[in-house]
Amino acid sequence: MTTALITGSTAGIGAAFARRLAGDGHNLVLVARDTTRLREQATELHDRHGIEAEVLTADLSTDAGIEAVEKRLSNRRDAVDLLINNAGFGNKGRYLEVPMADELTMLKVHCEAVLRLTSAAVESMRERGRGGVVNVASVAAFLPRGTYGASKAWVVQFTQGAAKDLAGSGVRLMALCPGFVRTEFHERAGMGTSNIPNWMWLDADKLVAAALADLARGRTVSIPDPRYKALMGVAKLTPRSLLGGVTSRTGRKYGPQ
Ligand SMILES: NC(=O)c1ccc[n+]([C@@H]2O[C@H](COP(=O)([O-])OP(=O)(O)OC[C@H]3O[C@@H](n4cnc5c(N)ncnc54)[C@H](OP(=O)(O)O)[C@@H]3O)[C@@H](O)[C@H]2O)c1
Repeated sequence: MTTALITGSTAGIGAAFARRLAGDGHNLVLVARDTTRLREQATELHDRHGIEAEVLTADLSTDAGIEAVEKRLSNRRDAVDLLINNAGFGNKGRYLEVPMADELTMLKVHCEAVLRLTSAAVESMRERGRGGVVNVASVAAFLPRGTYGASKAWVVQFTQGAAKDLAGSGVRLMALCPGFVRTEFHERAGMGTSNIPNWMWLDADKLVAAALADLARGRTVSIPDPRYKALMGVAKLTPRSLLGGVTSRTGRKYGPQ
């Protein structure tokens, strides 16, 4: 039996990973800040799928929280085979409207925690010659708009570089780049979503199935939906100067408010 550690496991995309991986027979280490919710999730997954689900309460915007998860990932006697760095959030408002403290918290959770947890996991996976890391980024990584997209661009760039450095080691790394997914994300950030057209919404369970298939294929970046693949294909061909204006206008019209 293998073990997967999922950060931000209690809601949205993380919860979909937990359901799918438990259904596939993996033991789980569930990480988030809300202990009550984590315990309920662990009990439900254990009862339904007969797997072991461990609870690890940690706030990844703090050094203590990151250290606790690093320590679990470095435990060679009870090794983690798959790490899903998924915890994340959005700040409401555009650049300069968001308090600097909130911007820095985002960088801590989206970048520093991802760097430190990936490194802790990969050190031990490399010794065993196998393992996988999925870093949840966003299609926002490919669009020059906002500090959220900038933090996710870091996730994509870091993951692709690390995957190259680890080629041949038996350890796979992949950046997962979803479009809009119906989760708690937008409500938590206080963002309205009524402007986002229905066709742009993805289902978290289908997203996770496509992501795991891409990981098995050895992809280092996964955009797991044909609609967003096409949109990002067009974005790649558009000059950055033009793209900035277009994404700013369409973002204001169709994006979260
Ligand atoms: N939903 C989308 O449209 C979308 C699109 C592209 C990318 N993404 C990315 O997908 C990932 C998951 O987002 P989601 O939509 O599933 O969000 P969500 O439904 O709001 O779930 C977020 C999860 O992260 C945990 N979390 C938040 N801050 C944390 C912290 N400081 N330390 C530890 N855990 C924390 C939350 O639990 P606690 O509150 O208990 O800690 C929760 O389990 C994020 O990285 C997000 O940027 C989302």
